[in-house]
This record gives sequence, C-alpha cells and structure tokens, in this order.
Amino acid sequence: PKAEFVDELMSKMTIEEKIYQTVQFTSDGTVTGPKSGVNFITLIQQGKVGSILNATGAKETREIQRINLENSRLKIPLLFGHDVIHGYKTIFPINLGMASSFDPQAVELAARIAATEAASGGVHWTFAPMVDIARDARWSRVSEGSGEDNFLGIQMAVANVKGFQGDDLSKTNTILACAKHFAAYGAAEAGRDYNTVDMSERVLRDTYLPAFKATVDAGVKTFMVAFNEIAGVPSTGSKFLIRDVLKGEWKFDGLVVSDYTGINELVAHGFATDNKNAGELALQAGVDMDMVGGAFMNYMKSSYDEGKLTLAQIDDACKRILDVKYDLGLFEDPYRYSDEKREKETIYKPEFLEASLEIAKKSLVLLKNNNNILPLKTNQKIAFVGPLVSDEFNIIGSWAALGDRSGFATSVKEGVTNYLKNVSNVTFDQGVEIQSTKRDLMQKALENAKNADVIVAVMGERENMTGEAASQTTIDLPGLQKEFLAELKKLGKPIVLVVLNGRPLTLTWENENMDAILETWWPGTRGGDAIAQTLFGANNPNGKLPISFPRKVGQLPLYYNHKNTGRPYLGPTDPEQKYKSQYTDVGNSPLYPFGFGLSYTTFEYSNMKISSDKIKFNEKLKVSVDVKNTGNYDGQEIVQLYIRDLVGSVTRPVKELKGFEKINLKKGETKTVSFEISSEDLKFYTIEMKNEAEAGNFEVFVGENSNTDRKANFELVH
Ligand code: IFM
Repeated sequence: PKAEFVDELMSKMTIEEKIYQTVQFTSDGTVTGPKSGVNFITLIQQGKVGSILNATGAKETREIQRINLENSRLKIPLLFGHDVIHGYKTIFPINLGMASSFDPQAVELAARIAATEAASGGVHWTFAPMVDIARDARWSRVSEGSGEDNFLGIQMAVANVKGFQGDDLSKTNTILACAKHFAAYGAAEAGRDYNTVDMSERVLRDTYLPAFKATVDAGVKTFMVAFNEIAGVPSTGSKFLIRDVLKGEWKFDGLVVSDYTGINELVAHGFATDNKNAGELALQAGVDMDMVGGAFMNYMKSSYDEGKLTLAQIDDACKRILDVKYDLGLFEDPYRYSDEKREKETIYKPEFLEASLEIAKKSLVLLKNNNNILPLKTNQKIAFVGPLVSDEFNIIGSWAALGDRSGFATSVKEGVTNYLKNVSNVTFDQGVEIQSTKRDLMQKALENAKNADVIVAVMGERENMTGEAASQTTIDLPGLQKEFLAELKKLGKPIVLVVLNGRPLTLTWENENMDAILETWWPGTRGGDAIAQTLFGANNPNGKLPISFPRKVGQLPLYYNHKNTGRPYLGPTDPEQKYKSQYTDVGNSPLYPFGFGLSYTTFEYSNMKISSDKIKFNEKLKVSVDVKNTGNYDGQEIVQLYIRDLVGSVTRPVKELKGFEKINLKKGETKTVSFEISSEDLKFYTIEMKNEAEAGNFEVFVGENSNTDRKANFELVH
C-alpha cells in the first residue's frame, strides 16, 4: 500500500510541489548553524516547505503543521526534525560517555527513551546517531560519537538505530534515525571542524564506512551527508558516496539530507560555480533534501527546465521523502506526534530519570586509584573543590537538546548531598572558574581543603568547548585549574580528580600528581548522583575508554589500531633507539589506551585457550579465557578480544578489536569468557579492493584493554 499510496499522490503533484518536498528550513527555535534569514512561516504559507528543523513541543509543532495543512493543496504533512543526540529532555551521558559503557543494550534504551520523549514533543526525526570514527581529540565533535574504533562504533550505531526507530515507525514512541555525517567527517585534517579529508578508498571502506553500512543493515531510514570533502570531492556532491555506494551497493532506500547549508557550501569548496549549480550537483549526487540552504527551492525548477536535471531525479528525491512521512503514519494523522497531554505525561518520567542514572553509572571510567583512595568513606572529612562541583548547567553536556540545565539536572554537590544526607563533614568550594584568570575564590577553597582528610577536585571543560565548531589546539584542563591543583597538592592531602569533559584531555601532569582520577565525561541529567554514588562505592566503576588519551596534543591523531611502519619503535628497552618511528620527547604510547579502565576490585586473567592453531575459511576458532575477581568488591569487567593479521597483500593494523563482553563477577568469583572468530571477522579490502580474508598467520589477544599482550597464534588455511 505504501508504494501505491505514494505513487498515486505523486501523480497528482506538480513539479513545483515535488520540489518543495525537498526543502527544509529551520524554525526560529534553537540555532544549529548560520541564520537563514528567511521567514519560515511565510514559506510554509506559500507551500514551499517539506520539512522543518528545530521546531519542538507538541503545541508549536501542531500549530506549524496546521498552517502547513491549511495552505497545502494536497495536504502533505510537514516532517519535523531535531538533533536529539543524547536525550531530548531526560539527558543521558554524551555519546562518547555512553560508548564507554561497552553496553549496546543500555545505549539502545537511552535512544528509545529519547525517541519516546521527542516523539511526544512533535519531533519525527532525529539527526543521530553520529557514527563518525574520531581519532583526534582536537576535533570538538569527538563527544558526539563512539570514539576511535570501528567494531565498538558499529555496535553503538546499531543500538542507536534500533532504539530510535524501534520495529514500527508508526508507533508514537519511535522516530526516524539519521546516520551522519556521511562520510569521514571525523577525519578532518588536524582536528579542525569542517576541514579537508584526504584518504585512500581502502581506509575509507575499511575504517570509516562500516558503521554507516551497519546502520543501513539495521534499517536506518535517513542519512546526512558530511560538510567535508574527501580526496577533492565534497561529500554533498559526491556521486560516488551517495549514488554509487549508499544507494547503489548498499541499496539504501531512505532519504539523504544535506548538512545544513552544505549544498551552498559546494561554492566555497570551489566545486560549484553558484548556488544553482550546487543544487544540481547535489541532486545529481543523490542528496534528496536541502537543509536550510534554499538552493533546491530557488533553482531546481529552472535547472529542470534547462534540462540539467531530470524528472526521474526529482521524483526519486520526492518519493523518498513521502515514503518516510508514510512510514511515520503522518498521512493518517499529521498531528499524531503533537499531543500535549502525552507530552506532559511522558517528559521526565521517573523511570527515564532512573535509566539516565543507571547509564551514567556505566559510563564512568576510573583512570587511576592509588592506595585505593576510592571509594571514599562517609566518615571522612572531604573538601569538594573546583568549578564543576556545584555546576548543573554543564553537567548534561554539549548538544543536549531541550535538557533542563537546572532543576532536573543534578550537580555533583547535589549528588553528594543526596547520597550522604548529612554533609556536616563536607565542604564545597569553586576555587577557580573553568576559563578565567580570577584567583579571588582560590584562598577560601584552599583553607577548607587544608582541614580535610581528602580532596575531591571536580574539574574539566565547559559544555560548549565540545560539539560543533569548537575545535582546539590545546586539550589541557583549561584556565587556572591545573595551577589550582598544584596549590592543592602542596597541602599534602590525597586528591581525587573528577573530570567532566567532552573529549580526551592531556592529563599527563594530573596522572603523575593526583592519587585518583575518575573520567565522567558529561554524564547527563542524573550525572551528579552517578558521580557521588561512584565516589562513595555504591557503584563500582565499570566503563572503559572508547578513545585513546594522548600524553601530549602533538601525538594526535592517536589510535590503538595503527600500522606497524617499517621502523617500529619497540619502547625504551629497544637497543636501537635512533631511526625509529617515534616522538623523541614523549614516545608513542598513549597516556591511557583504548579499552582501558580500572575498577575498585581487581581482575586476574588466566588460562587463555584457542580451539585450534589452524582454521579453514568455513570454520570457527574458539578463544576462551578465565577471569577472576581477586579484589574486595563485586565488579564488572569488559573482556576484549583483538586480532592481528601478520602479513597481508596490504599492511594490516597492529591490533583490531573483534569482540568484547561485559561480565559481572562477585568477589572471588571466576568466569570463563568465550569468543568465536571466523574468516568473516578477518576481512579487509585487499590489494585488489576485494573485501575478503587472506590465508596466513594471525595473532589473537584477549585482555583488559588494547595494550594486552596475552596472545596465541593461529593460521587461516584454505
Ligand atoms: O545535525 C546537525 C549536524 O550534525 C551539524 N549541522 C547542523 C545539523 C542540524 O542541526
């Protein structure tokens, strides 16, 4: 019935009406790019708009829809899109934080709750998940993705699509997901947002495209093309990416939207002569909807009249847009998502807030814990200091949709107060601001810290230091925070550093000088509670890093699955130090590797076994290891499996994650964790650009993080 319905509708549409379906403008609400300067209501009244970005709330969307329907000859409903990135009202940890959970089910639940809330507020479509691989912490949008690794990225991407879209888009607790930014946006040169990308097709296909492909396989309905160029071709005008790979090879039948004014930007790229030409190139390449730029609206008809665009191209774009409107049930009832009663009942439901707390607890990563200074004891005198102690504005993080930044959001101070009830032994002082040179608050904080048994410094970034267009060349703790830590250190008390941030920071000095470090990202609405419960031991930290932390910014881009080079640096014990691929000042290793994270308890790995030292292409290798909880707390461990393909027709990375499992282990308990690998897991783009595995020798590793050297060898044979 969908095909018939849409065909019939299209048979009644004029070419202008088809073109206007491809037009999206932003409402006057949230600004997510340069102002368009158009009056979107006037455009709707003229019937020129198919979709609206950033209008939210049952009342507002209902009113805009009403204006549209009154003016639309064929009563075609508008599609409302909004960036629901890590929650809508109830905010979850930033996506990089959620990836630290290595828990796809938790991520799926977060996306489902976000969809439920957003759908009750009239939103049909989120521009998420961002599935860009990010290996450079200078790039401000690392916060929105799942980090540097493909395998983990795929699990997170699929979990998000399932969570947002569910199994039936016409239900009012599901919304369209959007895989973005297609493609390789995260590989911007030197981490500068929107910057040039140049890479081989092999790297593109091996590393940057698989998460996108996985979302197509999971049924994602929409894609957003990236701002960047790849090898001289801007993605927005890339026929290769959109028509050949996405809509061709992968058979994607959903809709492709530009990223904001990305179509017009083809002119600045030096790829199109003017906006009209840009619109032609974008439609020809396969972009179906023009976000904000107006190129499709203004010029598509004359391009068609001049024979530069075909009716088939315009029909294809229009059909894909009408298809998703149909899937959402909008032709049955255009107002079905804009229901004020449901909105009131849905937003900030207690169980949503509870889920936000649970997910936040899974996303914290313990980076250091000397002398088991953590967990804190409730009878200790504790001085909480730092600019983020009482901060409920920043705790929900960047790009937090309509998340309440006071009220529902819990600061660390509130979390500690909720947990302890009696805070007579505890002080809270700001000490310094995140980014200013004011020292006037420092003295009082130092006085209180002097009288404490232990100091907890809650520091990090301001939320808008990450997210779109916020790239940086320095990724140290900003402002006077480090200087303040140095003053605290002089007091001779143990110090716990709690970091809130949207990207890996260079914590080399902090790692040397602090007794414990807890990475908490931007943990979301219940973040303060999650941090407090973790500091006092009601939650045992169980997250692991989805991205490497550099020692110095000059090591970037940095990632565990790098190539070996012809002159690999073998570490400080290497007798031949000179003429090796290394940084002579800091070495090559990260401060904290991918997959790293401690617990209040300890785990011992032993008895690694593989089922055979040879497998055929149609066989499976079983790999197992025993993990024992040898410490004093019940805990969770994320057991990781990596492989290395030792020799290939093209060179292969020194390690690649191919499996992980998060297990619960009670004090003293041992579990055997098993993985299976087949030749499917060993595929890559060979010298002939075929995606296949090659016979030969492999290493397989299991362990606690990407640094593990617990390994066995096997051979893949014909
Ligand atoms: O979805 C975003 C995208 O990630 C960056 N530019 C603006 C879009 C819409 O807000």
